[in-house]
Amino acid sequence: MAATARATPSDRPHIPVLLGPLLRAVAPVEGRWLDGTFGAGGYARGLLDAGAAEVIGVDRDPAVFDMATDWAGAYGDRLKLVQGTFSALDDHAGGPLDGVVLDLGVSSMQLDQPERGFSFMADGPLDMRMSQEGPSAADIVNTASEGELADILFHYGEERASRRIAKAIVKARAEAPITRTRELTRIVEACLPRPKPGQSHPATRTFQALRIAVNDEFGELVAGLEAAERALKPGGRLAVVSFHSLEDRVVKRFLQTRSGGAGRGSRYAPETTEQAPRFEAVAKSVEADEEELSHNPRARSARLRVARRTGAPAGPADRTALGLPKPIETRRN
Ligand SMILES: C[S@@+](CC[C@H](N)C(=O)[O-])C[C@H]1O[C@@H](n2cnc3c(N)ncnc32)[C@H](O)[C@@H]1O
Repeated sequence: MAATARATPSDRPHIPVLLGPLLRAVAPVEGRWLDGTFGAGGYARGLLDAGAAEVIGVDRDPAVFDMATDWAGAYGDRLKLVQGTFSALDDHAGGPLDGVVLDLGVSSMQLDQPERGFSFMADGPLDMRMSQEGPSAADIVNTASEGELADILFHYGEERASRRIAKAIVKARAEAPITRTRELTRIVEACLPRPKPGQSHPATRTFQALRIAVNDEFGELVAGLEAAERALKPGGRLAVVSFHSLEDRVVKRFLQTRSGGAGRGSRYAPETTEQAPRFEAVAKSVEADEEELSHNPRARSARLRVARRTGAPAGPADRTALGLPKPIETRRN
């Protein structure tokens, strides 16, 4: 999800996005489901209340599970919680699934805790690690080359001033390492014009881009879609909610190519042999309606896609056909 100047205040809980449309699109809900982005558990609860016999709730952030202690016990053995990434959801599932849901991006709780470093709205350490381990945003900002930084901002944030901002970051870090969100925000603000009313904050794209790089969000997304294909039973449903156009493009193209609806990634790519469709579309993609937007502005950029698994054997996706942004490896100095 892209954070904007109008992000939710810190005392508001996470309101599940597009939950009603999702439950309607996957009805009837029965059998074993996996929620690969458990968060505050809104989807997992919705699925359990709608009739799922069992839900496996997966999240890479160890902090989310503490928030579930008040209510998870009421579902007994029907709810199992696993700390891990959804790229390995078939391993976490431990058997065939009737449904998989993915609600991509960060939660309001993560955004609203300054100490997690996801938001330019409050000062905190420049962290952004959902799993709370591995290299942080500060590691990337202080060690990647100017070219790598510009690539990250351009390809993951669609930031047109990527080179200007990368240059300013390299200049600032030569004085002292950049360790706080506020320092980075000020650097970006100095590179861009003041936003007009209604426009997003100038640091929105830079923070989105760094968060995607820190958490390898596109690597996770493609591996998660492939893992869902392996884990779903014939007839099982896959529902994905994305929060920005880069993410939605990958989900859309994955489902198109797996449904036999799209050709090669580029006209220079080799001809692939015809495969039986692994998914079939359930409905058109869905966005939040006015009613949902009125009480949850975070739903503004969300889009839901739902598909049904066929009986065709699973296989790896053709990554050249998915419209993935350029992969950027950062070399540490
Ligand atoms: C938008 S929130 C999900 C909110 C949830 N649907 C609810 O109703 O409360 C996204 C959650 O997914 C988690 N997440 C993001 N990428 C992940 C990944 N690759 N594997 C596992 N969890 C991930 C984040 O830590 C965050 O808690």
